[in-house]
Amino acid sequence: MNQFIDEITLGDCRDFLPQLTAESVHLFLSDIPYGIGLDEWDVFHENTNSAFLGTSPAQQGKNGFKRRGKPIQGWNAADRNINKEYQKWCSEWAKLVYPIMKKGASLFIFGARRTIHRAIVALEDEGFLLKDILIWKKPGAHHRSQRLEIVLNQRGEQELAEKWHGWRLGNLAPIYEPIAWLFKPYHHTITDNIIEHAVGGMNVLDCLIDGKSPTNILEMGFRDDEQRIHEAQKPIKLMEYLIRLTTLEHQIVLDPFMGSGTTAIACRNLHRHFIGFEIDENYYRAALKRFEYDPIQMSLLREENSRYCI
Ligand SMILES: C[S@@+](CC[C@H](N)C(=O)[O-])C[C@H]1O[C@@H](n2cnc3c(N)ncnc32)[C@H](O)[C@@H]1O
Repeated sequence: MNQFIDEITLGDCRDFLPQLTAESVHLFLSDIPYGIGLDEWDVFHENTNSAFLGTSPAQQGKNGFKRRGKPIQGWNAADRNINKEYQKWCSEWAKLVYPIMKKGASLFIFGARRTIHRAIVALEDEGFLLKDILIWKKPGAHHRSQRLEIVLNQRGEQELAEKWHGWRLGNLAPIYEPIAWLFKPYHHTITDNIIEHAVGGMNVLDCLIDGKSPTNILEMGFRDDEQRIHEAQKPIKLMEYLIRLTTLEHQIVLDPFMGSGTTAIACRNLHRHFIGFEIDENYYRAALKRFEYDPIQMSLLREENSRYCI
């Protein structure tokens, strides 16, 4: 267990999670893959249909959605099974996470608006309970929606193009991301659980927003000087907020899908222990590099934390 503490470990989290100590983790905080084909790391299906595996010329040279063509509804029944395959993958790690969480501990799962329900069901099926779905409101959103009149004009349908003037194909600007908040069931009352396991409450006083109690809509962005490494990177401030809300100093935060290491940095800043895994070697190296700018602080944290029983 201690070999993983305050380290990001390269590899598939499913190989390491069984090695963690039972009921030792105070918070699961993870921006898990979304199952929407954002990139190679986000594909969890066996479907070889080219609508989903990026062989269309329209996808060449794109940064996002290299592995997913449109439309969402696919071309056949197998295409529409993709979300179920994602749920199956979520169950594989959710099963391993359940025994290592403390009773009453929180889990924050970032996800995509159209697949997060699958992750929630997978976690529920393993025994966790859903408490809330928070909203992370982003400062801005990349948005593209095709003008229907242009599509119709390209087809030579001028009359129809006029009729559908002002209409678009696609979604509204995606300005928020959902964060599912689950917890592991506890015995007796939540107050007894807090006394016994030191998890289950919310540190509202430390998380006031403009002097007021927070709502379940969190509006936070990146600092101007924050390095941007990962296409799905989250602001350090947001991760710090969720950590402060639910943990005490020196408690253990698990992020099995670390990406560029944002959760680890937030933990270091707040004097929490972290355990992190990342399967992609490039992101793993980038995450380690993000720490390098301040190695002294990192070793001080380890020294300070080693004085506490973990
Ligand atoms: C949504 S991204 C996390 C981004 C992160 N929040 C950040 O700020 O950089 C999810 C990450 O999970 C990694 N991943 C996918 N499957 C994994 C697995 N089985 N074990 C460990 N990491 C995995 C991917 O490579 C990807 O970097």
